Amino acid sequence: MSTHTERNLGLSIMRATEAAALVAGRWAGRGDLLAADLWAARAMQKVLNSVDMNGLIVIGEEPRHAEHSLLTTGTTIGDGLGPQMDVVVDAVEGVRLLGEGLPDAVSVVALAPRGAMRSLAPSAYMEKLVVSAEAAAAIGPEALTAPPLWTLGVVARAMRKSVEDLTILVLKRPRHEALIEEIRSAGARVLLRPEGDVVGALLAAMPGNGVDLLMGTGGTTEGVVAACAVKAIGGAIFGRLNPQSEDERREILEAGLDTKKVFSSDELVSSDDVFFAATGITDGLLLRGVHYHGNGATTNSLVLRGKSGVRRQVYTDHPPDQNPRGELTTQ
Ligand code: FBP
Repeated sequence: MSTHTERNLGLSIMRATEAAALVAGRWAGRGDLLAADLWAARAMQKVLNSVDMNGLIVIGEEPRHAEHSLLTTGTTIGDGLGPQMDVVVDAVEGVRLLGEGLPDAVSVVALAPRGAMRSLAPSAYMEKLVVSAEAAAAIGPEALTAPPLWTLGVVARAMRKSVEDLTILVLKRPRHEALIEEIRSAGARVLLRPEGDVVGALLAAMPGNGVDLLMGTGGTTEGVVAACAVKAIGGAIFGRLNPQSEDERREILEAGLDTKKVFSSDELVSSDDVFFAATGITDGLLLRGVHYHGNGATTNSLVLRGKSGVRRQVYTDHPPDQNPRGELTTQ
């Protein structure tokens, strides 16, 4: 079975993120996180199973969300006929954002040739640092472990800015209190977000979005998704497993994983032949959300291909029959 990907699978997986977003958008502000995630995952799975590939989900969401999980680690996906691919998905990235109708809930899928994505299951949490290409050459793994004051100085110099000009996106979590304090005392600015460090990673990696770095701990699955996107965009991501409970630590150690190792972009995803697609569910800084109207719905997606470096912004009009209204209950 081939691992050679001549076709642009990015557009195929975009159909899956669009399908998930079209379903998920119906749940915006409705507060039912479980139903939103399950229906979106079902829609995504259906379309992914029609994609010409022999896919394997390398790390699912179950380490953090056992109850939401449909597309779990080890699930095979695709029509089984095309190239062998590693797959990582998040049908609703920012499910709490969606439940509250807040910006930047997105649906994402990333692919890489089989064996390229680092298998980090059962890890649930990863500490991350993401920068754009401008700063990528100036930093190495030590940027993740060094005091933020030092890291911010190096990044600021590489970007020909002062530390005071830097904006660092951090998830608003109690575990980040010390980090936020250190960033502030260095003189830099913090953009606190309630959820969504995949969007955070994209904003940091793509220049011109008002975010210079992503720092802090989020999901490991999201870290692998972000690594695919960052490789295609050309920035850098560093990640280190950061268990948030004794059970998680034990499971990671039993799986032979090292909590001290800092993974680079290439160690998280070893191939440049990656594909990434994200579709907005709610309007956000990165993408427009799903807009429903009498004649169907519109979606906005970002599609990246690592090999060519092509970055597509896609606006799609969906006719009414692809805009399911019937799936508003979990029955
Ligand atoms: P989900 O919507 O898939 O739960 O992810 C939202 C998110 O904010 C991620 O972007 C982030 O990596 C993770 O949750 C952080 O986890 P936690 O909410 O447990 O701190």
